[in-house]
Amino acid sequence: MKIVLKKCILREWRWEDKISLIKNANNIKVAGMVRDRFPYPYDNVAADTWLKEVSAEKAQTNFAIVVKNKAVGAIGFETEGDIFIRSAELGYWLGEGYWGRGIMTEAVQAVTAYAFSNFDLCRLWAGVFSNNPTSVKVLEKNDYEFEGRLKKSITKFGQTLDQLVFARII
Ligand SMILES: CC(C)(COP(=O)(O)OP(=O)(O)OC[C@H]1O[C@@H](n2cnc3c(N)ncnc32)[C@H](O)[C@@H]1OP(=O)(O)O)[C@@H](O)C(=O)NCCC(=O)NCCS
Repeated sequence: MKIVLKKCILREWRWEDKISLIKNANNIKVAGMVRDRFPYPYDNVAADTWLKEVSAEKAQTNFAIVVKNKAVGAIGFETEGDIFIRSAELGYWLGEGYWGRGIMTEAVQAVTAYAFSNFDLCRLWAGVFSNNPTSVKVLEKNDYEFEGRLKKSITKFGQTLDQLVFARII
């Protein structure tokens, strides 16, 4: 599945993305805003693990964000199973060299539409660390509503922070 947008292309991950993946993912400013399962440093093993995981996907929920033929970021969503079966968590990151160009705003818009059209979901949500106003802006621009602040719910690189929950409901 390939989604062509104005500023980037969203497509499946490929093994040839590995070098660009490592180059863009291996950044403490990226790792510092996402879960610990996103490794830092982001090395060859981390890239292999990720590319193996996404190549085994049955239904596509993960996309490489491609700019000028290079995979420079990621966006995807994860269904939660059990009673949360119609809810999915959205996650994304972009290489620092590409920030501030509106790329993630259009990627979130496209993946939100894709997820609601192709999966039996009625809720997409994202948890943003309280020190990440840029991500809040991306979600707000895509009509994700602020649902609440989970006080001191996360600890990232030794700093305990609030998590801000945003959701889009249909
Ligand atoms: C958050 C992230 C995905 C944003 O991607 P991006 O492509 O740079 O975002 P966009 O350019 O589409 O939009 C950013 C918006 O935030 C705004 N912004 C930037 N810094 C800001 C700040 N300190 N406070 C408020 N808004 C800010 C920009 O002005 C822009 O809004 P505008 O288009 O209305 O001017 C990117 O910075 C990133 O990957 N960060 C590290 C990983 C991460 O945070 N992932 C998300 C975890 S929830």
